[in-house]
Amino acid sequence: MTKQEVVQCILAGRSNGAAAEASRFAPANIALCKYWGKRDEMLNLPRTSSLSVSLESLGTHTRITPAGSDEILLNGDPVDSSTSFAGRIVEFLDLFRVNGQPAFHVETRNSVPTAAGLASSASGFAALVLALDGAFGWNLPPREASILARLGSGSACRSVFCGFAEWHAGTASNGLDSFAERLDADWPALRLGILTVSSEQKALGSRAAMRQTVETSPLYASWPETVAGDLPRLRAAIAQRDLEEMGSVAEANALAMHATMMGARPAILYWQPDSVTMMERVWAARADSTPVYFTMDAGPNLKLLFEEGSAASVLERFPEAKVVAPFAD
Ligand code: PMV
Repeated sequence: MTKQEVVQCILAGRSNGAAAEASRFAPANIALCKYWGKRDEMLNLPRTSSLSVSLESLGTHTRITPAGSDEILLNGDPVDSSTSFAGRIVEFLDLFRVNGQPAFHVETRNSVPTAAGLASSASGFAALVLALDGAFGWNLPPREASILARLGSGSACRSVFCGFAEWHAGTASNGLDSFAERLDADWPALRLGILTVSSEQKALGSRAAMRQTVETSPLYASWPETVAGDLPRLRAAIAQRDLEEMGSVAEANALAMHATMMGARPAILYWQPDSVTMMERVWAARADSTPVYFTMDAGPNLKLLFEEGSAASVLERFPEAKVVAPFAD
Protein backbone atom coordinates (compact mmCIF):
# COMPACT_ATOMS: atom_id res chain seq x y z
CA MET A 1 0.00 0.00 0.00
CA THR A 2 1.17 3.53 -0.70
CA LYS A 3 0.73 6.44 1.71
CA GLN A 4 -1.99 7.74 -0.57
CA GLU A 5 -3.89 4.45 -0.34
CA VAL A 6 -3.60 4.44 3.46
CA VAL A 7 -5.04 7.97 3.53
CA GLN A 8 -7.92 6.96 1.25
CA CYS A 9 -8.65 3.99 3.47
CA ILE A 10 -8.70 6.12 6.65
CA LEU A 11 -10.79 8.91 5.12
CA ALA A 12 -13.30 6.67 3.32
CA GLY A 13 -16.83 7.72 4.22
CA ARG A 14 -15.75 10.88 6.07
CA SER A 15 -16.91 14.38 5.27
CA ASN A 16 -15.22 15.78 2.20
CA GLY A 17 -16.45 19.34 2.41
CA ALA A 18 -14.60 22.55 1.56
CA ALA A 19 -11.65 23.22 3.84
CA ALA A 20 -11.90 25.96 6.43
CA GLU A 21 -9.33 27.62 8.67
CA ALA A 22 -8.30 25.52 11.66
CA SER A 23 -5.73 25.80 14.38
CA ARG A 24 -4.49 22.97 16.63
CA PHE A 25 -1.73 22.16 19.13
CA ALA A 26 0.17 18.91 19.62
CA PRO A 27 2.77 18.28 22.33
CA ALA A 28 6.31 17.05 21.78
CA ASN A 29 6.89 13.61 23.22
CA ILE A 30 9.88 11.96 24.83
CA ALA A 31 10.22 8.22 24.43
CA LEU A 32 10.97 6.20 27.55
CA CYS A 33 11.28 3.10 25.35
CA LYS A 34 12.61 4.25 21.99
CA TYR A 35 11.50 3.70 18.43
CA TRP A 36 14.66 2.91 16.49
CA GLY A 37 14.50 1.09 13.15
CA LYS A 38 11.80 0.72 10.51
CA ARG A 39 10.35 -2.37 8.90
CA ASP A 40 8.81 -0.21 6.16
CA GLU A 41 10.57 3.03 5.24
CA MET A 42 7.75 4.49 3.20
CA LEU A 43 4.94 4.01 5.73
CA ASN A 44 7.18 4.61 8.76
CA LEU A 45 6.38 1.22 10.22
CA PRO A 46 8.61 0.39 13.18
CA ARG A 47 10.36 -2.86 13.97
CA THR A 48 9.41 -2.53 17.64
CA SER A 49 6.77 -0.89 19.81
CA SER A 50 7.67 2.19 21.87
CA LEU A 51 6.34 4.21 24.80
CA SER A 52 6.50 7.95 25.47
CA VAL A 53 5.38 10.79 27.66
CA SER A 54 4.17 14.03 26.09
CA LEU A 55 5.49 17.41 27.17
CA GLU A 56 2.19 19.13 27.94
CA SER A 57 2.56 22.71 26.70
CA LEU A 58 5.87 22.28 24.81
CA GLY A 59 5.10 21.40 21.23
CA THR A 60 3.73 22.83 17.99
CA HIS A 61 0.84 25.18 17.25
CA THR A 62 -0.30 24.97 13.64
CA ARG A 63 -2.87 27.06 11.86
CA ILE A 64 -3.88 26.19 8.32
CA THR A 65 -5.89 28.46 6.07
CA PRO A 66 -7.03 27.61 2.53
CA ALA A 67 -5.02 29.78 0.11
CA GLY A 68 -4.22 30.19 -3.60
CA SER A 69 -0.88 28.40 -3.28
CA ASP A 70 1.08 26.71 -0.50
CA GLU A 71 2.93 29.04 1.82
CA ILE A 72 4.70 27.95 4.99
CA LEU A 73 5.71 30.04 7.97
CA LEU A 74 7.88 28.69 10.76
CA ASN A 75 7.92 30.71 13.97
CA GLY A 76 6.69 33.75 12.03
CA ASP A 77 9.21 33.56 9.15
CA PRO A 78 8.38 32.40 5.61
CA VAL A 79 10.14 29.13 4.76
CA ASP A 80 11.76 28.82 1.34
CA SER A 81 9.97 26.18 -0.71
CA SER A 82 13.31 24.61 -1.68
CA THR A 83 14.12 23.58 1.93
CA SER A 84 13.59 19.99 3.05
CA PHE A 85 11.33 21.30 5.84
CA ALA A 86 8.93 22.88 3.33
CA GLY A 87 9.28 19.87 1.03
CA ARG A 88 8.15 17.45 3.74
CA ILE A 89 5.10 19.55 4.59
CA VAL A 90 4.03 20.06 0.97
CA GLU A 91 4.50 16.36 0.24
CA PHE A 92 2.35 15.54 3.26
CA LEU A 93 -0.37 18.01 2.24
CA ASP A 94 -0.37 16.42 -1.24
CA LEU A 95 -1.76 13.27 0.35
CA PHE A 96 -4.97 15.12 1.19
CA ARG A 97 -5.75 16.98 -2.03
CA VAL A 98 -6.70 16.33 -5.60
CA ASN A 99 -4.84 18.06 -8.46
CA GLY A 100 -2.98 20.26 -6.01
CA GLN A 101 -6.15 21.62 -4.38
CA PRO A 102 -6.81 22.95 -1.85
CA ALA A 103 -3.53 24.78 -1.22
CA PHE A 104 -2.81 26.04 2.28
CA HIS A 105 -1.18 28.80 4.18
CA VAL A 106 0.50 26.84 7.01
CA GLU A 107 1.63 28.79 10.03
CA THR A 108 3.56 26.66 12.46
CA ARG A 109 5.11 27.70 15.77
CA ASN A 110 7.37 25.47 17.78
CA SER A 111 7.95 25.96 21.45
CA VAL A 112 10.76 23.37 21.17
CA PRO A 113 13.93 23.91 19.11
CA THR A 114 13.45 22.55 15.57
CA ALA A 115 15.43 19.37 14.81
CA ALA A 116 17.51 19.36 17.98
CA GLY A 117 16.50 15.95 19.22
CA LEU A 118 13.51 17.46 20.97
CA ALA A 119 11.04 15.79 18.65
CA SER A 120 9.71 18.89 16.89
CA SER A 121 8.86 16.85 13.78
CA ALA A 122 6.70 14.63 15.98
CA SER A 123 4.64 17.50 17.39
CA GLY A 124 4.75 19.20 13.97
CA PHE A 125 3.13 16.37 12.01
CA ALA A 126 0.68 15.60 14.81
CA ALA A 127 -0.44 19.25 14.93
CA LEU A 128 -0.71 19.32 11.14
CA VAL A 129 -2.94 16.22 11.08
CA LEU A 130 -5.14 17.62 13.85
CA ALA A 131 -5.38 20.95 11.99
CA LEU A 132 -6.31 19.15 8.74
CA ASP A 133 -8.91 17.18 10.69
CA GLY A 134 -10.37 20.47 11.93
CA ALA A 135 -10.14 22.12 8.50
CA PHE A 136 -11.89 19.32 6.61
CA GLY A 137 -14.25 18.36 9.48
CA TRP A 138 -13.35 14.66 9.36
CA ASN A 139 -13.78 14.07 13.12
CA LEU A 140 -11.06 11.45 13.18
CA PRO A 141 -10.92 9.10 16.17
CA PRO A 142 -7.49 9.29 17.89
CA ARG A 143 -6.35 5.96 16.44
CA GLU A 144 -6.90 7.16 12.86
CA ALA A 145 -5.29 10.55 13.58
CA SER A 146 -2.32 8.65 15.01
CA ILE A 147 -1.96 6.55 11.83
CA LEU A 148 -2.04 9.65 9.62
CA ALA A 149 0.52 11.45 11.81
CA ARG A 150 2.78 8.40 11.54
CA LEU A 151 2.87 8.85 7.76
CA GLY A 152 4.57 12.24 8.33
CA SER A 153 7.05 11.13 10.98
CA GLY A 154 6.99 7.85 12.93
CA SER A 155 7.10 9.28 16.44
CA ALA A 156 4.37 11.81 15.52
CA CYS A 157 1.80 9.05 16.06
CA ARG A 158 2.49 9.37 19.83
CA SER A 159 2.21 13.19 19.81
CA VAL A 160 -1.51 13.01 19.09
CA PHE A 161 -1.87 12.31 22.83
CA CYS A 162 -1.15 14.00 26.13
CA GLY A 163 0.30 11.90 28.92
CA PHE A 164 1.79 8.46 28.34
CA ALA A 165 1.33 6.85 24.92
CA GLU A 166 2.30 3.46 23.59
CA TRP A 167 2.88 2.94 19.87
CA HIS A 168 1.98 -0.62 18.90
CA ALA A 169 4.38 -1.72 16.19
CA GLY A 170 1.73 -3.88 14.47
CA THR A 171 2.42 -6.56 11.91
CA ALA A 172 0.18 -5.65 8.95
CA SER A 173 1.98 -4.55 5.80
CA ASN A 174 -0.52 -1.69 5.31
CA GLY A 175 0.25 -0.40 8.82
CA LEU A 176 -3.39 -0.08 9.85
CA ASP A 177 -2.51 -1.83 13.12
CA SER A 178 0.49 0.45 13.79
CA PHE A 179 -0.81 3.34 15.90
CA ALA A 180 -0.35 4.89 19.32
CA GLU A 181 -2.78 4.78 22.21
CA ARG A 182 -2.93 6.75 25.39
CA LEU A 183 -2.11 4.74 28.52
CA ASP A 184 -4.74 4.95 31.19
CA ALA A 185 -2.31 6.38 33.76
CA ASP A 186 -1.15 9.69 35.04
CA TRP A 187 1.64 10.78 37.35
CA PRO A 188 1.08 14.31 38.63
CA ALA A 189 4.42 14.48 40.49
CA LEU A 190 6.48 13.48 37.44
CA ARG A 191 8.84 16.12 36.08
CA LEU A 192 11.02 16.28 33.00
CA GLY A 193 14.02 18.57 32.83
CA ILE A 194 15.32 19.56 29.41
CA LEU A 195 19.09 20.05 29.34
CA THR A 196 20.03 21.62 26.03
CA VAL A 197 23.59 20.93 24.96
CA SER A 198 23.00 22.26 21.46
CA SER A 199 19.92 23.44 19.58
CA GLU A 200 21.68 23.37 16.22
CA GLN A 201 20.16 21.35 13.38
CA LYS A 202 21.65 17.87 13.52
CA ALA A 203 23.86 16.74 10.64
CA LEU A 204 22.28 13.29 10.28
CA GLY A 205 18.50 12.99 10.54
CA SER A 206 16.84 10.09 12.35
CA ARG A 207 15.60 8.48 9.12
CA ALA A 208 19.11 8.06 7.68
CA ALA A 209 20.56 7.17 11.09
CA MET A 210 17.97 4.42 11.63
CA ARG A 211 18.63 2.96 8.20
CA GLN A 212 22.40 2.98 8.72
CA THR A 213 21.98 1.32 12.12
CA VAL A 214 19.60 -1.39 10.87
CA GLU A 215 21.72 -2.14 7.83
CA THR A 216 25.21 -2.10 9.33
CA SER A 217 25.21 -2.38 13.13
CA PRO A 218 25.81 -5.88 14.49
CA LEU A 219 24.43 -4.58 17.81
CA TYR A 220 21.00 -3.91 16.29
CA ALA A 221 20.18 -7.64 16.48
CA SER A 222 19.74 -7.32 20.24
CA TRP A 223 17.44 -4.26 20.06
CA PRO A 224 14.06 -6.07 19.74
CA GLU A 225 14.94 -8.16 22.78
CA THR A 226 15.87 -5.02 24.75
CA VAL A 227 12.50 -3.48 23.90
CA ALA A 228 10.60 -6.69 24.70
CA GLY A 229 12.12 -6.63 28.19
CA ASP A 230 11.79 -2.88 28.80
CA LEU A 231 8.20 -2.25 27.70
CA PRO A 232 6.39 -4.37 30.33
CA ARG A 233 8.71 -3.04 33.03
CA LEU A 234 7.90 0.54 32.02
CA ARG A 235 4.15 -0.09 31.92
CA ALA A 236 4.31 -1.58 35.41
CA ALA A 237 6.56 1.21 36.74
CA ILE A 238 4.18 3.85 35.36
CA ALA A 239 1.16 2.11 36.89
CA GLN A 240 2.94 2.07 40.26
CA ARG A 241 4.55 5.50 39.86
CA ASP A 242 7.89 3.87 40.63
CA LEU A 243 10.48 6.45 39.57
CA GLU A 244 13.50 4.30 40.31
CA GLU A 245 12.23 1.50 38.06
CA MET A 246 10.92 3.81 35.34
CA GLY A 247 14.02 6.01 35.36
CA SER A 248 16.53 3.19 35.36
CA VAL A 249 14.75 1.32 32.55
CA ALA A 250 14.35 4.50 30.44
CA GLU A 251 18.00 5.48 30.95
CA ALA A 252 19.27 2.00 30.05
CA ASN A 253 16.95 1.87 27.02
CA ALA A 254 18.28 5.19 25.68
CA LEU A 255 21.90 4.12 26.20
CA ALA A 256 21.20 0.78 24.47
CA MET A 257 19.71 2.65 21.49
CA HIS A 258 22.80 4.86 21.26
CA ALA A 259 25.00 1.76 21.56
CA THR A 260 23.31 0.27 18.46
CA MET A 261 24.19 3.50 16.61
CA MET A 262 27.79 3.47 17.77
CA GLY A 263 28.02 -0.06 16.39
CA ALA A 264 26.97 1.15 12.92
CA ARG A 265 29.64 1.33 10.23
CA PRO A 266 30.49 4.17 9.97
CA ALA A 267 29.57 4.87 13.59
CA ILE A 268 26.83 7.35 14.48
CA LEU A 269 27.50 9.42 17.57
CA TYR A 270 25.05 12.18 18.52
CA TRP A 271 26.75 12.90 21.82
CA GLN A 272 28.92 15.93 22.40
CA PRO A 273 31.47 16.21 25.21
CA ASP A 274 28.93 18.17 27.27
CA SER A 275 26.38 15.36 26.85
CA VAL A 276 28.78 12.96 28.59
CA THR A 277 29.58 15.54 31.28
CA MET A 278 25.86 15.85 31.99
CA MET A 279 25.40 12.07 32.17
CA GLU A 280 28.18 11.98 34.75
CA ARG A 281 26.49 14.76 36.71
CA VAL A 282 23.26 12.72 36.75
CA TRP A 283 25.11 9.66 38.03
CA ALA A 284 26.87 11.78 40.66
CA ALA A 285 23.51 13.18 41.78
CA ARG A 286 22.13 9.65 42.17
CA ALA A 287 25.20 8.51 44.08
CA ASP A 288 24.44 11.44 46.36
CA SER A 289 20.82 10.30 46.97
CA THR A 290 19.06 12.59 44.46
CA PRO A 291 16.68 10.36 42.46
CA VAL A 292 17.15 11.63 38.91
CA TYR A 293 17.55 9.74 35.64
CA PHE A 294 18.03 10.76 32.02
CA THR A 295 16.98 9.82 28.54
CA MET A 296 18.28 11.05 25.16
CA ASP A 297 16.99 10.96 21.60
CA ALA A 298 18.76 11.36 18.26
CA GLY A 299 20.67 14.42 19.42
CA PRO A 300 23.10 15.65 22.08
CA ASN A 301 20.51 16.87 24.62
CA LEU A 302 19.48 15.16 27.84
CA LYS A 303 16.02 14.97 29.35
CA LEU A 304 15.97 14.44 33.10
CA LEU A 305 13.31 12.34 34.80
CA PHE A 306 12.50 13.09 38.43
CA GLU A 307 9.64 13.85 40.82
CA GLU A 308 8.38 17.10 42.26
CA GLY A 309 9.58 16.09 45.74
CA SER A 310 13.22 16.17 44.60
CA ALA A 311 12.87 19.18 42.27
CA ALA A 312 14.78 21.48 44.63
CA SER A 313 17.81 19.24 44.82
CA VAL A 314 17.70 18.48 41.05
CA LEU A 315 17.53 22.19 40.23
CA GLU A 316 20.34 22.97 42.62
CA ARG A 317 22.49 20.58 40.59
CA PHE A 318 21.03 21.47 37.17
CA PRO A 319 19.95 25.13 37.39
CA GLU A 320 19.93 25.28 33.58
CA ALA A 321 17.21 22.60 33.26
CA LYS A 322 13.90 23.69 31.73
CA VAL A 323 11.33 21.87 33.84
CA VAL A 324 8.11 20.46 32.37
CA ALA A 325 5.24 18.97 34.37
CA PRO A 326 3.56 16.60 31.89
CA PHE A 327 0.46 16.09 34.05
CA ALA A 328 -0.12 19.63 35.32
CA ASP A 329 -3.74 20.67 34.80
O1 PMV B 1 10.01 9.84 14.31
P1 PMV B 1 11.41 10.17 14.04
O2 PMV B 1 11.83 9.78 12.65
O3 PMV B 1 11.73 11.61 14.37
O4 PMV B 1 12.34 9.28 15.00
C1 PMV B 1 12.39 9.43 16.39
C2 PMV B 1 13.48 8.66 16.98
C3 PMV B 1 13.79 8.90 18.44
O5 PMV B 1 13.39 10.18 18.84
C4 PMV B 1 15.30 8.79 18.65
C5 PMV B 1 13.14 7.84 19.33
C6 PMV B 1 11.69 8.00 19.64
O6 PMV B 1 11.06 6.97 19.93
O7 PMV B 1 11.17 9.12 19.64
